[in-house]
Amino acid sequence: MVSVQARGLFVTGTDTGVGKTVVAGALGALFRLRGVDVGVMKPVQSGGVREGGHLFSEDSRFLRKAAGVDDDPALVNPYCLEPPASPNVAASISGVQIDLNVITTAFQKLTSLHELLIVEGAGGLLVPITDDFLMADLVVALGLPLVVVARPNLGTINHALLTLRYAQHLGIKTIGTVINGYREEEAGIPEKTSPAIIERLSGVPIIGTLPYLSSVDVSSARLGDLIETAGRSLDIEKLDWGDSDGG
Ligand SMILES: Nc1ncnc2c1ncn2[C@@H]1O[C@H](COP(=O)(O)OP(=O)(O)OP(=O)(O)O)[C@@H](O)[C@H]1O
Ligand SMILES: [Mg+2]
Repeated sequence: MVSVQARGLFVTGTDTGVGKTVVAGALGALFRLRGVDVGVMKPVQSGGVREGGHLFSEDSRFLRKAAGVDDDPALVNPYCLEPPASPNVAASISGVQIDLNVITTAFQKLTSLHELLIVEGAGGLLVPITDDFLMADLVVALGLPLVVVARPNLGTINHALLTLRYAQHLGIKTIGTVINGYREEEAGIPEKTSPAIIERLSGVPIIGTLPYLSSVDVSSARLGDLIETAGRSLDIEKLDWGDSDGG
């Protein structure tokens, strides 16, 4: 069985839409296939979808489906906001006050239910959750090591290193990087050379490159051949837990 030396990991990205949900779901599925009891969490969703008067998080639904998790959606996603904006702005427009205690209470409950909790952020590390509390502050507060999702094309070295080095600057343990959405037919020099450069200049292992998969779609909860492909493309054994005990 794969070793899990922390009670969870936090999946962030170099940007919004970079593939955090797809990668977090894939990681959840891979750990489950190795016999780990996995939970998932999306603390704050903005751009929530309204269906029949009910607001729900597409990310939370995809994560639960990919990781095979049956937990209460309200626990997995404590805050779901409709405006597609940063959480602080979406909350303000919606007249919602984000209470960090609600997030940490749900987090503690989920970590008590599972061996490993995979938490997906929103946007990137410096997205405000409230006016003076950023996503990076939540990573620190939860005491989780970080996995960074980056895109494959030109510009990714800068974005990946900005995210990884800032996390390291804050004392956050960075345990792996995933390149997501690789298209062989479009791959040029940057796609082929960036992963090794990101790995060398961050000191963080690239645990794999996940290809673009037309069968996968978060908004319609389609897993397609994600799990099978992730099994070939991502190596969770490469995650560098170091001496982290997860706090
Ligand atoms: N490897 C992939 N193959 C095919 N489609 C993908 C892949 N990765 C992501 N997508 C698609 O790209 C879109 C963005 O991906 P995803 O929702 O995972 O990004 P995100 O970083 O979680 O975004 P957000 O910041 O909104 O949470 C989704 O429609 C998803 O289905
Ligand atoms: Mg997402």
